[in-house]
Amino acid sequence: MAARGDQGRRPILRGDYRPPAWLVDHVDLELELAAESTRVLAHLDVRRNPEALDREPLRLSGVELKTRRVLVDGQPLADRQRTMDGESMVIGGVPDVARITTEVEIHPERNTALEGLYAAGSSLLTQCEAEGFRKITWFPDRPDVMATFRVRLIADRARYPLLLSNGNQLESGELEDGRHYAVWEDPFPKPSYLFAVVAADLAVLEDHFTTRSGRQVALKVYSEPVNLHRLDHAMASLKRAMAWDEERWGLEYDLDVYHIIATHDFNMGAMENKSLNIFNARYVLADPDTATDADYEAVEAVIGHEYFHNWTGNRVTCRDWFQLTLKEGLTVFRDQEFTADLRSRAVKRIADVATLMARQFPEDAGPMAHSVRPERYIEINNFYTATVYEKGAEVVRMYQTLLGREGFRRGLDLYFERHDGQAVTCDDFLAAMADANDRDLTQFARWYAQVGTPRLEMTTDYDHERGHYILRFRQSLSAHPDNEQRGPLMVPVKIGFLGPDNQPLPVTRVGEDGEGAETRLLVLTNVDAEFRFDQLPPDALPSVLRDFSAPVRLDYDWSDEQLARLAGHDPDPFSRWQAMRRLAERVLTAAIEAGARLPDAVELLIAAWKAVLEDETLDPALAAELLSLPSEAELAQQRDPVDVDCIHESRKALLMRLSQVLEPVLRARYLACRDGAAWSDSPEAVGRRALSNLILNLMLDGQCEAADGLAVDHYESADNMTDRMGALKALVHGRVGAADRALRGFEDRYRDDPLVMDKWFAVQASVAGADAVRRIEALMAHPAFSLKNPNKVRALLGTFGLHNPTGFHAADGSGYALMGRVIRELDGINPQVAARLATVFNRWQAYGAERAGRMRGELEAIADKKGLSPDVEEIVKAALR
Ligand code: ARG
Ligand code: ZN
Repeated sequence: MAARGDQGRRPILRGDYRPPAWLVDHVDLELELAAESTRVLAHLDVRRNPEALDREPLRLSGVELKTRRVLVDGQPLADRQRTMDGESMVIGGVPDVARITTEVEIHPERNTALEGLYAAGSSLLTQCEAEGFRKITWFPDRPDVMATFRVRLIADRARYPLLLSNGNQLESGELEDGRHYAVWEDPFPKPSYLFAVVAADLAVLEDHFTTRSGRQVALKVYSEPVNLHRLDHAMASLKRAMAWDEERWGLEYDLDVYHIIATHDFNMGAMENKSLNIFNARYVLADPDTATDADYEAVEAVIGHEYFHNWTGNRVTCRDWFQLTLKEGLTVFRDQEFTADLRSRAVKRIADVATLMARQFPEDAGPMAHSVRPERYIEINNFYTATVYEKGAEVVRMYQTLLGREGFRRGLDLYFERHDGQAVTCDDFLAAMADANDRDLTQFARWYAQVGTPRLEMTTDYDHERGHYILRFRQSLSAHPDNEQRGPLMVPVKIGFLGPDNQPLPVTRVGEDGEGAETRLLVLTNVDAEFRFDQLPPDALPSVLRDFSAPVRLDYDWSDEQLARLAGHDPDPFSRWQAMRRLAERVLTAAIEAGARLPDAVELLIAAWKAVLEDETLDPALAAELLSLPSEAELAQQRDPVDVDCIHESRKALLMRLSQVLEPVLRARYLACRDGAAWSDSPEAVGRRALSNLILNLMLDGQCEAADGLAVDHYESADNMTDRMGALKALVHGRVGAADRALRGFEDRYRDDPLVMDKWFAVQASVAGADAVRRIEALMAHPAFSLKNPNKVRALLGTFGLHNPTGFHAADGSGYALMGRVIRELDGINPQVAARLATVFNRWQAYGAERAGRMRGELEAIADKKGLSPDVEEIVKAALR
């Protein structure tokens, strides 16, 4: 048995890539499936890779496999022909073309890591990305080895009536002893990480889709029978995704069947296995009674995401795991565009950038900072990050910004034309974009290599002699060893100006004729850049980085009044939101520095809020975005040392002031939003729920008169989960007397519904204050909680660590001690989830000597654990460095 978890693994380096010495053309698998023990018989048709650099022996990866037999061309191997090297079995003397046969035994029921083949409830499922296939059978488990697969599944018919794998079903039938079998064949060569198997007893919703060229595709979405009625939205989302991929990119589905399986036991969001997607149930199940509007949108987006991977990921895949952003950044970009095209583009863009700033910016500034194409890793699972995904999507978006929509489409078409069926690199993607548009993108490639969030400092000037308005930029990269000697980036910056009356001004560069557009693209290529404009008044108000045209931090010293003007009048909705955020951050920063006393600038913020609340022409969903304040965690990011309690008090003081001064306006807008409240999923209704719930929470935060009663009514009259959760949160966070009863009623109603119970755990985990620790401990003992279930861990402990600063950072260190204990225990159960959780300690140094000492103590205790997983080890060692 190959062991895992040998401490002190050496990092794998991007520069060490070598083409595979051996290829596998075809795989024949037979799995005799049972939860206690599954037998896997594999035949691999291998041959030497003509492109290999050396004549190396055949290497197969395997982890936790009980190996029964290894044969080469049907002949058993002599012992000296096979040696072990870490996770690899090295086989000498294999003919240049050969058939390798292995038989192993694995134990799905004991697999709590949820990687490889594992038992999820009464089902057996696989998760192979990134390196889970080696926990199923011996294989050169790397994405540049692509094979066709034929899979024969055998299992007890009563327990597992459903037997699925990738591709098309060739046959099925009965066997003796109540068993049955099914044979599946996937005609598309694929890397092992896209392999999947499901053996289960599930209900199915069926439909079909006819592609543009007339292919009839059977669509099947599966869940446990009790949730069959919650699959309609997933199915509708899948059909929308298929239609959109054809319309927007000309991409069609390529097989006759598409399966989606929902499970409650899943490490991530979902997985794009060829034709057999496996999903965290939270991204499949939805009905108004149990799913919020945000859940509805997330289901649609993740179903879209996994579907879009069929082209960007499966048809064209990654050569090695350093290229992960090739498929993930691109596919996130595609799912963002999908949502933007179907829903509100403005709201979607704001929400995406808000997520980037809240989740990716801290990663860029933290101990695990890495480029979108990392240079090294110890455990690849630690690199499924906001940087690779969300910042990677921003990099893809910049191509589109620079090349235009049509140019980008030409580039993508060429990418598929050149690379369909291949495993390629980010450089190949860039080359397709460059060649299709006849553009030199050499400099753009630095976006893949630089680490951290680049900074743009802007200054303005006016050349009175010539009547030129001048914008000057200076760019800089963060201080990181990987950034040394790196030249300037190519940065697309969208700009515009407002006149004294707040009207947008046409923008004309010096030397251009005619009247320019109101938004213009500037492309920065040097460290210092200067742009001159004609026909602008000296007091024109610059609006810069519209649409967040590049993932940078922009510094410019707008006055408070100027920010308020942009917040009210910038024609670009993202820039309005950004200005509102900046203004709120200024107010909060000043308050934090003055011991929670609000500065005078708060009046400007109040006026800006009032204007938003009174603007009945504004989309309520956009209004809700404009009125969202930076969280305590985001405020903490920008401070060193972090004064946890003062941040909390300052934010509370601001909420209090806003809600008290604006109470009549808030109440009026609230009532207007609640008018005609019967549930509908129209964008209008969704927007009104978003805004009314935001206002309700604000009024409770501000202890407005009779707000408690409003929240109780809101809760009791709710006919959908968005309102029910919105009101529950207001009651619980407002520590209103009625909160306990509401929590109990909610629990009674939903105790058997794991996804809804996740919400119940999360809403309690985020209640501020040092008593949070005891509450978390009590909730961990709740029968619905389990450390073995990743959704539960995220809902309770993830929420506590990330969204409850005053609880987690309780001065006595009890929050740290709890988290440390959980991480050490979870490490032995599920290293991937434990490693994610361990990142809550990343900024330990910034919390003052006392807290820092306690956090370091926890990190050291984790690092000292015997048999610590490489996953967690990589995270805590980076934090301690
Ligand atoms: N490729 C999947 C997605 O983006 C995520 C799989 C993550 N797997 C992992 N082991 N980290 O949809
Ligand atoms: Zn993905």
